[in-house]
Amino acid sequence: MAQVSNIADAVIGRGFPRIDGPKKVCGVARYTSDHAFPGLVYGVPVTATIASGRVTALDSAEAMRLPGVIQIFHSGNFNGELFRKKSGGGKTDEARPPLADDRITYYGQYVALVIANTYEQAIAGAEAVKVSYAADQANVDMRLRAEEKESVDTERGDVAQAFASAPVKVDQTYTTPPQAHNPIELHATVALWNGKEFTLYETSQAIMNHRMVMAQMLGVAPEQVRIITEYLGSGFGGKLWPWSHSLLAAAAARQLQRPVKLVVDREMMFHNVGHRTNTQQRMRLGADGSGKLLALQHDYLFHNARLDTYKENCGEATGYLYSTPNLRAAWSFARRDIAPPTSMRGPGAVPGLYALESAMNELAVELKMDPLQLRLLNEPETDESTGTPFSSRHLKECLTTGAERFGWASRDPRPGSMRNGAGTLIGWGMAACTWMAKALPAEVTVQLTREGRAKVLSGTQDIGTGTYTVMAQMVAQLTGLALEQIDVTIGDSSLPPGPMSGGSMATGSLVPAVQQATRAAIDDAINTALEEVPAFKGRKAEDLAFAEMRIHLREADAASGVSIAELLDSAKLKYVSGSGKTPGSADVDDKFSIHSYGAHFVEVTWEPEIARLRVNRVVTVIDGGKVINPRTGRNQIEGAIVMGVGMALFEATEYDPRTGQPVNSNLADYIVTTHADAPEVDITFLDYPDTTLNPLGARGIGEIGLAGVSAAITDAVRHATGVVIRDLPVRIEDLLGSELKAV
Ligand code: MOS
Repeated sequence: MAQVSNIADAVIGRGFPRIDGPKKVCGVARYTSDHAFPGLVYGVPVTATIASGRVTALDSAEAMRLPGVIQIFHSGNFNGELFRKKSGGGKTDEARPPLADDRITYYGQYVALVIANTYEQAIAGAEAVKVSYAADQANVDMRLRAEEKESVDTERGDVAQAFASAPVKVDQTYTTPPQAHNPIELHATVALWNGKEFTLYETSQAIMNHRMVMAQMLGVAPEQVRIITEYLGSGFGGKLWPWSHSLLAAAAARQLQRPVKLVVDREMMFHNVGHRTNTQQRMRLGADGSGKLLALQHDYLFHNARLDTYKENCGEATGYLYSTPNLRAAWSFARRDIAPPTSMRGPGAVPGLYALESAMNELAVELKMDPLQLRLLNEPETDESTGTPFSSRHLKECLTTGAERFGWASRDPRPGSMRNGAGTLIGWGMAACTWMAKALPAEVTVQLTREGRAKVLSGTQDIGTGTYTVMAQMVAQLTGLALEQIDVTIGDSSLPPGPMSGGSMATGSLVPAVQQATRAAIDDAINTALEEVPAFKGRKAEDLAFAEMRIHLREADAASGVSIAELLDSAKLKYVSGSGKTPGSADVDDKFSIHSYGAHFVEVTWEPEIARLRVNRVVTVIDGGKVINPRTGRNQIEGAIVMGVGMALFEATEYDPRTGQPVNSNLADYIVTTHADAPEVDITFLDYPDTTLNPLGARGIGEIGLAGVSAAITDAVRHATGVVIRDLPVRIEDLLGSELKAV
């Protein structure tokens, strides 16, 4: 390995602005649906207006006669011929190919695809297709009973016995509704087929997986599919796994021999590209009089679609967050006539921690104990679900630091006791949070070029979190180059396979591979210099060093050496390069319990006269390992907290029980947090590097900020109003007249 002098360590941990920011604000960054090609045609799907049943007739004759309409695909002319699905590799949450047959299992399912010369003509065509159905009564009931066999996530001791004999108990059920991802950028595919290969411009958080799934379902080799995702207008997990529109566009492009653009519209975003499933979680907590947990039982249910089985892993954090000798987390699900659920920011743990942290807050009330003290008291020494040591856990410091920054000590625990001026009630609540940390396999190439620049390449993508920027920082750290001298090339599946942007794993997974590739590129430069530079004849690699884009004798200064540009010129090379590989974290996953932690402290205000509830102020402390870029990192936590306000107060997809339609499938009726709703946010990173995963100690921070926020908000609502909310979101009607309930 090369000896690298002049290491610019300060590059890691500095809040550089996004290097792709100027391109985005100037409008030159091209998102998927911005791509256009000669001969491009537009696809608009026709969607089912029933949630369960069959298509009995589909009449496309009139639509075909409309101006510009080129073709209308449906199950009668677009089926197994086009989709030659093979088994193996690749993940999707909707395995059934679109237009496969006449069966309908959810409202909005694609029943036809109209192809026309313009988008407007395709819309007109789609509206003119006449579809008849034989509908069955749809079941979209959000009250769940276990329909499948129960499975156990984790178990220790005898929880039933311990709960039965515990002197202090909480036994409550918490529910969270279905939620829609709603990134600003709509899902889209621009599909090209050149007779041999597909090039698919995609809105994908995981281009390498997307390629595998598309190859299988289109019946071609992976080498015949290239996925390109240069920029993403976020995804929140909705863009992790491929959805049917991508197959429709690709197969149509092959069939028609023309480029096809298909943009999923906002309404379709509610039923064709996944959602967070609803959850119903019964929590049983038992404690002794001092607050020590004796029993923790977490039984949860969620809905699934008719055909695919997704697990909303609510028990993920239950086994390790607190110390208790008796514990059990178990789950089952119920099928509904609803489109397939999928991963949404912090899948599993986010609704799971809403329930667990709400139950902890209720236990604190039962114990007449400060909820902060209750958590400090039940801090485990090791991960009691696996017996493994924590790699790096600083939850206690998150709790105490947050409490101090918030001013928690001055809280009067009596509901309705704190006021701001005349009529406004103030509520303070808190919760802990946690999220997994793993590393995925990743491959990276680094080139040092004749122009005196470094180029870093990997088949990963930037969901908007800052992947471009942190990759440049990793190269800058080892080369001493300025970020402006580094080109980051990602978002293309023909590059060395990189990690998905999911599970908060991209950054940490890239670190070892980028570092190894950078060092290997420097080694390549040194070896080339030994061969090419007369002054270095007879020297060994260890006699040479790299600094300021120059190779020089270790005993001399950088200026005495040869520049990479001169070196490449004389060697007649465009670049020297190196590759690096992250094996993934399988070897440490079993030895350590590797997680991030955090604490949220929340202030709400409730103005009973005008029935206005606001989240006023949030103080959050995160133990997420080394934060490579505190500015992009802070953005992640801020965004997550704003999303948490939505989860607590606004977001819910409502299904019409008559038709199974998500009736609020637009941004006017599905309410998300706006700027006016956003609280003042104070974020602290503890910044303890966790080197079990990578040499920089980065653990990933994309999701943890959303975990626990909603429990802290409902606890603050209870503190302000006396009303205990166990079914999200909090609705104003839950609080009307609440002054009477306050003690
Ligand atoms: Mo996240 S749900 O892993 O995109």
